[in-house]
Amino acid sequence: MKKLRSQGWFGGQDKDGFTHRSWMKNQGYPHDLFDGRPVIGICNTWSEFTPCNGHFRDLAEWVKRGIWESGGFPLEFPVMSLGETLLRPTAMLFRNLASMDVEESIRGNPMDGVVLLMGCDKTTPSLLMGAASCNLPTIGLSGGPMLTGRFRGHELGSGTGVWQMSEQVRSGEITNDEFMEAESCMNRSKGHCMTMGTASTMANMVEALGMSLPGNAAIPAVDARRYTLAQLTGRRIVEMVREELVMSKILTRAAFENAIRANAAIGGSTNAVIHLIALAGRIGVSLGLDDFGKLGAKLPCLVDLQPSGKYLMEDYFYAGGLPAVLRELGEAGELNREALTANGKSMWENVLDAPCWNRDVIHKYGEPFKPDAGITVLRGNLAPNGAVIKLSAASPHLFQHTGRVVAFENIEDFHARINDENLDIDENCVMVLKNCGPRGYPGMAEVGNMPLPPKVLRKGITDMIRISDARMSGTAYGTVVLHTSPEAAAGGPLALVESGDTITLDVANQRVQLNVEDATLAARRAKWQAPELPKRGWERLYVEHVLQAHQGADLDFLVGASGAEVKRESH
Ligand code: FES
Repeated sequence: MKKLRSQGWFGGQDKDGFTHRSWMKNQGYPHDLFDGRPVIGICNTWSEFTPCNGHFRDLAEWVKRGIWESGGFPLEFPVMSLGETLLRPTAMLFRNLASMDVEESIRGNPMDGVVLLMGCDKTTPSLLMGAASCNLPTIGLSGGPMLTGRFRGHELGSGTGVWQMSEQVRSGEITNDEFMEAESCMNRSKGHCMTMGTASTMANMVEALGMSLPGNAAIPAVDARRYTLAQLTGRRIVEMVREELVMSKILTRAAFENAIRANAAIGGSTNAVIHLIALAGRIGVSLGLDDFGKLGAKLPCLVDLQPSGKYLMEDYFYAGGLPAVLRELGEAGELNREALTANGKSMWENVLDAPCWNRDVIHKYGEPFKPDAGITVLRGNLAPNGAVIKLSAASPHLFQHTGRVVAFENIEDFHARINDENLDIDENCVMVLKNCGPRGYPGMAEVGNMPLPPKVLRKGITDMIRISDARMSGTAYGTVVLHTSPEAAAGGPLALVESGDTITLDVANQRVQLNVEDATLAARRAKWQAPELPKRGWERLYVEHVLQAHQGADLDFLVGASGAEVKRESH
C-alpha cells in the first residue's frame, strides 16, 4: 500500500506535524493513532431539522466500532443536511451546494477513506456527487426506512398517504380532523420514508451501483441489523483503503446501467434520473436520458410497493430486498454481472443465491407486477430535450390522449385558481404548469403532481394528465409528465403553451406534442420575456450556472472531478 494521504498531515516530525497532531490530541486521541493507520472520515448528515436522518449520530458510533476493529482511525464530520419536509423553498435547490460542502470537506481534511451516511432524499445524491469529485475509497451507508405506518387498521405509507388523504379531504370523503389524526400514525419510527419514494429509491441506487454492502437498501432504520450493517461497513472501508478501491473503480458505466435497470424493476422515483445523470457527470461516465429510455423503459416493474403498488419498505426487506430483485434481473440477462462492488465482489457474486420470501412483494421477472413499466423518456415539440413519465405510477387509459390545455403560469397561479369552481376544466383536460424547472422555481420543486380540481375529484376521478418542468415526489403517483426540457424559464416551448391549446400524449411512440402551428408559436415567442433572476446569494449563483434537467441539474462548473490532492498546504 502506498503512503496514506493522511500522513501528509500527521506523519511529519516538524512544526506542521506537531500542529496537526497536537490540536487533535485535545480530543483525547493517543499518539499512536497517528502512526500511519487509515484515517476514515464519517460524513454525517445528522440534523434535527432532517428527521429522516435524526438517528445518524447513533449509526455513526456503530460505523466507528467497525473502523476501530479493522485498525482504522474514525473521525466524524458534519456536512449540510437537506431535510425534504422542512427546507424551503425546496431541498433540491441545495443539492449541489451540499455536494460542494462534501467535496471540499473531504479534500481539505486528512482522510484516506470515507463512509457516507445518507437517508433523506437529497442527502444521498449530494454526498455521492461530492465524494465522486474527490474519488477516495468510499462506501455508502443508508439510514434505513421507517417502520410501516398504521392508521385505523390500515397500512399508511409516508408521503403517498398524505397525497391520498389530502385529496380525500378535498373531495369530502374524510374530514380534516381524521386527516390530522393520521399524522402521528404515519411516521412512527426513526428512518426515512418507507414508500418507494426518492429516499428508498436512492438507497436502492446506492446498492445497485455497488457503492454499499449488499442489503443496504431495505433494512429498517430501527432493526438491529441496520446497526450490524453499520459496523460491517466500518470494517470494510478500512480494507478498501488498503486495497486502494477508489470510487471510480466501482462507478463505471456498467454500474450505472445496473442502477437504471434496478430503478425500473423497483418502480423507483423519477428523481433518480436527475441524480444518476449528475453523479455520472462527476465521475466521468457518459450517461443521458436516452440511456434510461433504452435500458429501463421496457423492463417490468417487479416490486409491488407504494406509490406504484400497495406494500411498504418493511415488506420489501422481509421479502428479500434489492438482492432478490437483482437476482431476477441477472437471471433475465438484464444485469452487468461483473460490475465490481464495495465488498470487493462482483454484483453477481453478491446476489446469485439471494432468496425471495414473498412473491406478492417481489415478483418473478417472468410474472411481473407491471409489464413495460420503467421510466419512459418522451420527446416532441413540447420537450425537444426530453421529459419523463413514470409508467408504473400512471394510468394506462391516459397513455394515448389528446386534451384541451389548462395552463398555469407558475405555482402561485396554480394555487390561486385550482379550487375555483368556475375554472373551465374537466377530466379530459391536460393541466400544464410552467416556471417550476431548475431555473424557474428556482430549484425545480416537487410540484409536478398537481392536485386535481375539487369538481373533478367529486366525480370520483383520481387522475388527469399533468405536464410541467417540475419534479415530483417519489412518493407521488399519476399520469404526470415531468422534467420537460428546456424548461419554461429558459425559453423552452413549455413557456409558449396557452390555455385552449391541445396537447397529445402518446406513450407508445414516446411523444408529447403541442398541437399548435409553428407560425403561432413563433409569434408567441417574440412576445415572451425571460423571468427576472434572483438578485444575490446562492440563488443567484445557482440560476446562473444550473444545467437543465436532462443534464442532471448540476452546476456547470461542478461537472467532473478534481481528485483528492490539495495543491497548497496551510502552514
Ligand atoms: Fe425524508 Fe421522505 S421526507 S425521506
